[in-house]
Parts: sequence; C-alpha cells; structure tokens
Amino acid sequence: MANRGGFSSKLGFIMAAAGSAVGLGNIWKFPFEVGAGGGAAFLLMYLAFCFILCFPVMVTEIAIGRKTQLNPVGAFKALGYKRWSIIGKMGILSGVLILSFYNVVAGWAFGYFIEMVMGNFEVGGNFGEYITNVFKIGGYAVVFMATTAYIVSKGISAGIERASKILMPTLFFIIIGLVLYSFTLPNAFKGVQFYLVPDFSEINLEVVFNALGQAFFSLSLGMGALITYGSYVGKKDNIITSAAFITLADVGIAFLAGLMMFPFVAYLTEGTMEGAAQGPGLIFAVLPGVFQSLGPILGVIVGSTFFLLLSFAALTSTVSLLEVPVTYVVDEHQVKRSRAVWAVALTVFLVGLPSLLGNGAVEFFTSFVTYPSGETKTFMDLVENISSDTFLPLGGFLISVFAAYVWKKENLHEEISSGFDGFKTSLIRKFLDVTISYLCPIILGIIFILTVSQKFFG
Ligand code: PFF
Repeated sequence: MANRGGFSSKLGFIMAAAGSAVGLGNIWKFPFEVGAGGGAAFLLMYLAFCFILCFPVMVTEIAIGRKTQLNPVGAFKALGYKRWSIIGKMGILSGVLILSFYNVVAGWAFGYFIEMVMGNFEVGGNFGEYITNVFKIGGYAVVFMATTAYIVSKGISAGIERASKILMPTLFFIIIGLVLYSFTLPNAFKGVQFYLVPDFSEINLEVVFNALGQAFFSLSLGMGALITYGSYVGKKDNIITSAAFITLADVGIAFLAGLMMFPFVAYLTEGTMEGAAQGPGLIFAVLPGVFQSLGPILGVIVGSTFFLLLSFAALTSTVSLLEVPVTYVVDEHQVKRSRAVWAVALTVFLVGLPSLLGNGAVEFFTSFVTYPSGETKTFMDLVENISSDTFLPLGGFLISVFAAYVWKKENLHEEISSGFDGFKTSLIRKFLDVTISYLCPIILGIIFILTVSQKFFG
C-alpha cells in the first residue's frame, strides 16, 4: 500500500483527527444539548461517557485502522471477519446522514461570518427568519459542500490540516477571551451555576441518550472515521497518547464553549436562563447580541473572526465525514477518486435538502414526525437522532464486542504495543481490557435497547 500516502508525521495524524473531532459538535451542538439537557447534569454524563466509554473505542478504531490500512468495510474483511464489515457499512451510512445535516449548519455558520462582516448583529434576533431564507442558506450550503468536495478530490486535506495548526489555536484563544469577557457581565454567575452545579433530578433517559450521542458525535467515533484516519498512522506512533490528546483537546474545547455560552445566556436573559433550552438556534441567536455589546468596530472584528474560524473548524470535520464514504467507494468499488467524490457529495447534498428546508420554510419537513413520546421533530432532528444518537453508539458497541470477543484482546494489545513498549504491563492496558470487554458492551447495549424501545417505539 505504498502509494496510499500517509501522514508525514505523527503530528499530521493528530492534527487531522483533532480537526475531525473539533467542529460544530463542540461549539454549536454541545452548548445547546447542555441547555436542553438541564445544564451540569448533562455535562457530567457527557464527560463520563467521553473518558470511560469513548476513549477506549477511539483507541480500538485507530488500532484496527493501522493494522489493516484500509477503509472501515475493507478493514473487517482484511482481518478475516467479512460479516463484521456491517459495522463499516453502517458507518458509511452514518457518515452520509451526518454530513447531510452538518453541511446545512456549516452553511449557517459561514453565512453568519458574512453577516458579521457587514455588521448585521440583528441577525441573532431574526435567526428563525434567517434559516427560512432558503435561497441564501441553500447557496451557502452549496458553497460549503463544493469546497469540501474539492478538498477531498484533490487529496489536499494535508494543507488544510497544516493551516488548522494556526487557526485552531486562534479559535481557542478567541473562546478563552470570550469566556473571560462573559464573566464580567451582569448575572454571569447564574450562567456558571447552571453549567457547573448539577441537579440530578434533571437526569432522565432522554438526557443519557443525548449525552451519549453527543460524546460519540463530538469525538467522531462509531462510524469508522478513525479507522480511516488510523489507516494512515505509522507503526512507531503511540496510539494511546495520540487518542488521549485528541480526546482532551475535543472535550476541552466543548467545555470552554459551554463556559462561554451560559454566562452570555444569563446576561441576555437577566439571569432567568430562559431560552437556554431553545435547541439548534442557541449560538446563532445569542452570540450576535454579545458581539454587538463589544461596540461596532470590535464587534465586527471579533464576530466575523469567530464565525470564520467556526466555519473552518466545520470544514476539517466535513472533510473527514466525506472522506469515509469516498474512501470506501474508491477502495471497494474501484471508482476513480474524483468521480467518487462528486457523486457522493451530490448524493449527500440531496439527502440534506429536507434538513435545509425543514426549519420553518416547508412545514412538512418542519413538523416531520411525532414520536410515541408525543414530541414533534423536524426532519433534521430525526436524521440526527438516527445517525448520531443511535448509529454511532451502536457502532461503538459493535466495535467493542468485535475487538474483545471476535478479533480478541491479544491482537488489540499487539497492535497498540507497536509504538508503546511497556503497554502490555501498563495500567492503561488493564483499564482498556475492562472497558472494552465489559463496560462498553454492557452500558452501550443497555442504553441502546432502552432508548430505541422508548424513543422510537413508545
Ligand atoms: N466530530 C465532529 C464535530 O464535533 O463537529 C462531527 C463529526 C465528524 C462526526 C466526523 C463524525 C465524524 F466522522
């Protein structure tokens, strides 16, 4: 597989994987999920899931990718377990579904960059209207998908990842700056309290389900994205430290995004926190007012830089989302890369159209389904519930069962040991053994059965 290329350095892989992980999931989705999930209780569940269940799955995905040097479908076949390649197939479907709505939201973020450049801070108050302007947001979505496809077709993601070495730390510092600014505002403390002081009565199955889905989504796990990226990792690289870095960076940015948002919400609502649970519009409704409070010049500078960098963070994620189905089509069906890219991108865009239209513009897709629980959901909510909240944890469950009981732990240990000398006698090996063999299969299995039976079948 010499001509497959590879990351030029260990840093290259880490940058790409962290680029995939850090995105809209951290800055757009995480705060609104926390807001809807009652605050700190959600945060705690999320952190526990990331470190106890997701980190081991991440290590396993990278190890499978490096061992086989293949896409998620080919990888299971190469290990000799053709049937298990269903995990990869499900992952490819998840990638298509997730990208279909992710691209729509990336378009909103990119559009906000333009609004901020023009000093249109009122857009926050008119967000509901903004997302029904289908020609505008449709145009941005086309631009975003085309840019993603162009990058993937040219195989130039390495350049993007290199650029993100500068851009992501910049985003990080802007968020830190905004966190500090938010602390100076009236009622900030109420927001911090909402975010950090748990009220366990808020935890119910819905919160658990969303926190788990969010953990997998944010870390880009359960759909083989990291099998794909792992296939480019060198044998001398330490998988454990790489996975630890990616997890910490991702969780850290999400945590800071929450720390920035809730004091702002408290400030704008005079401490009532009303609207914290408004869902996907949260950052889009709240942040423009905050940028406006910085004054016309600073507001434009900080606001436009923020949304530009957010779009950039989204781009490194859309690239990885598109890469998964494309690598599959290229490897397994011998299609030319450029043709595969544009065909997949077009398909995904079409699958995403109802998500684009279903936020008020077209009633049919806006009130698309009513769950047995009585909740009415948009088309986009439904796709998200199926792909990110259900398929990803299910993928994680199957990957852990596969690694522990089919492929066997010894083989996993062997692969991780390459690049990590004392792994077999280390404490981290014991932790991985327990999580992969017991905690992941049991906890993920139970949550899966409970939620699917309750959420979708009443
Ligand atoms: N982790 C990305 C985010 O948080 O924005 C979303 C994502 C990217 C999910 C790639 C899955 C994936 F394979």
